[in-house]
Amino acid sequence: MGKEVWYITTPIYYPSDNLHVGHAYTTVAADALARYHRLLGEKVLFVTGTDEHGQKIERKASEAQKTPQAFVDPIVAFIQDPLWKRLGISYDDFIRTTQPRHERVVQEIFQRLLDKGDIYKGVYEGWYCLPDESYWTESKLVDGHCPDCGRPVERVRQESYFFRLSRYQAPLREYILSHPDFIQPVSRRNEMLNFIDAGLEDLSVSRTGIRWGIPVPSDPEHVIYVWFDALTNYLTASGYLQDTNRFETAWPPNVQLVGKEIVRFHTVIWPIMLMALDLPIPERVFGHGWLLIGQAKMGKSLGNAVDPIELLDRYGVDPVRYYLLREVPFGADGSYTEEALILRTNVDLANDLGNLLSRTTAMINRFLDGQVPTLNAGSDDRVLAGEAAQVYREFQEAMDQLLISDALTAIFRLVRRANKYIEEQKPWDLAKTGQTEKLANVLYGLWETLRIVSVLLTPFLLDTPDRIRQQLGLDAPVTNIKEAIFGYEPQGLGIRRGDALFPRIDKAGEAVSEESAPAPAVVEDNWVDIADFQKLEFRVGTVRAAEPVKGADRLLQLTVFDGVRERTIVSGIRQHYQPDDLVGKQVVLVANLKPAKLRGIVSEGMLLAGSQGDVLSVVTPLSPLPDGARVK
Ligand code: MSP
Repeated sequence: MGKEVWYITTPIYYPSDNLHVGHAYTTVAADALARYHRLLGEKVLFVTGTDEHGQKIERKASEAQKTPQAFVDPIVAFIQDPLWKRLGISYDDFIRTTQPRHERVVQEIFQRLLDKGDIYKGVYEGWYCLPDESYWTESKLVDGHCPDCGRPVERVRQESYFFRLSRYQAPLREYILSHPDFIQPVSRRNEMLNFIDAGLEDLSVSRTGIRWGIPVPSDPEHVIYVWFDALTNYLTASGYLQDTNRFETAWPPNVQLVGKEIVRFHTVIWPIMLMALDLPIPERVFGHGWLLIGQAKMGKSLGNAVDPIELLDRYGVDPVRYYLLREVPFGADGSYTEEALILRTNVDLANDLGNLLSRTTAMINRFLDGQVPTLNAGSDDRVLAGEAAQVYREFQEAMDQLLISDALTAIFRLVRRANKYIEEQKPWDLAKTGQTEKLANVLYGLWETLRIVSVLLTPFLLDTPDRIRQQLGLDAPVTNIKEAIFGYEPQGLGIRRGDALFPRIDKAGEAVSEESAPAPAVVEDNWVDIADFQKLEFRVGTVRAAEPVKGADRLLQLTVFDGVRERTIVSGIRQHYQPDDLVGKQVVLVANLKPAKLRGIVSEGMLLAGSQGDVLSVVTPLSPLPDGARVK
């Protein structure tokens, strides 16, 4: 027996509140990696769960006048279903630190380390950050606050058990240096080396005066420190001290995903616990960045948490998963905005992917009676085959380095290449001029590209790959990533056109019909000639008067001087500006727009304004210009 299982973990989450999109982010990423490894044909153990003990939960429960267990149970049930269920989290085990299987392991480990002298009894005097459940010495505090989260800390003085971190400072440092992959990305590795070099002090690993935790077996007045308890979950879930076969085939974890704020626990305390137990250390701890709202971390404490269930209701699971996995390079911090989610869905999924599928299936229907062509051996067109092979390589390299967003970028490059290929090859012309063999080859290439894309998207999206395959005439779901190799022989398959893959979404989150769909974002085949641009006459003008339009809560009527005369312009900006804000300001107007009647008023032109989501701003020159100056 040896290691044969690919083992991946997420942090176990505090069920002190419902989880938010930040927690979903880590879990969806771990899920995509787990699905990818299953498609490689590996046996996978994917574990997530909940961290249920500790003072913070104890306090919250007492505020809610419940026992801690009664407080966390419904929250944990909700996390499992509907939250993880609807997000398609394919975990193999869900661990709760209140399960007897876990409590036994924590107590056993504590006792072993005590027997070995790595844990000893002493007196703790110092500071405690309750929200982070972390201990700090005076010297580490920043202006008297927690150096990690900046919140106030509490003074603690009590008898305590200590874990001898200091004994392992040198071996840990040595381990990190000789295992460059252990802490990723590299920036976090350097941070941790600096932290270790500043000196490791022994860690208080028990508390008195709180009840909600696992008692020290030989001294039950003491409750084991919540992080010691929590980190042990990874051992419990792998079968340690319970199921030798499970443990020996799974240990150590291949990848442990954590947010950057808890990298320290996972790369200092955790490996030292394992060293003290003589157990192998995880291959990789990957500290990813935060989802931010503006400049701040999304989180309960700042009250800016976004509810994933609301997003699922509004957009469906695949757009949400796609956005989380694609938007932010894994490792870096990134802003979360709903507008960006909508834009990603509209541009990548609805426009690029949806159009490729719809155009390809429509052309196979029209030109080949819906029969999927086979590859013509004589064809020397390797454009899509070459691009697909290159993308497959990049996809694998990216996934092996946990660069999930890069993997998706590569896949969508293939999609865009195929759309461009349609424009280059003009299958409609090939049909018109009777070039049937070439036509069949081109359509085969497009069909085959879509099939490959359906394979490569399987780790990330839930039902989209099958919906693509259904339309392509394929019934079997994807079972192995190797299916993403160009050259499949579609014997006797017929196209089954269906609905648009993704309806476009408008700003309010509503799906919109094709007719009123917003124009796709700028893509290469959207260029206009300079001559087209020059047909538009933009001029600077000054607003001389402004007033609301009666009975229209979005419209303002403006009088704008354009250097020659005053014009009346009706503009839909009333919800963003008070009339007085605009009087005296210079604006840019489209001067040769055909006049149009709005609410009975003839509007002679249009103002330029930029907007995204709820924000809107009227465009104005950086420094004053003569009224009438041309803008080009
Ligand atoms: N219970 C500890 C972890 C113990 S692991 C042995 C804990 N729990 S938590 O509920 O606070 O979850 C923290 C994790 O949630 C982070 O490490 C990160 O993976 C994820 N995130 C929470 N907020 C996040 C963002 N705003 N952005 C990205 N991930 C975030 O810490």
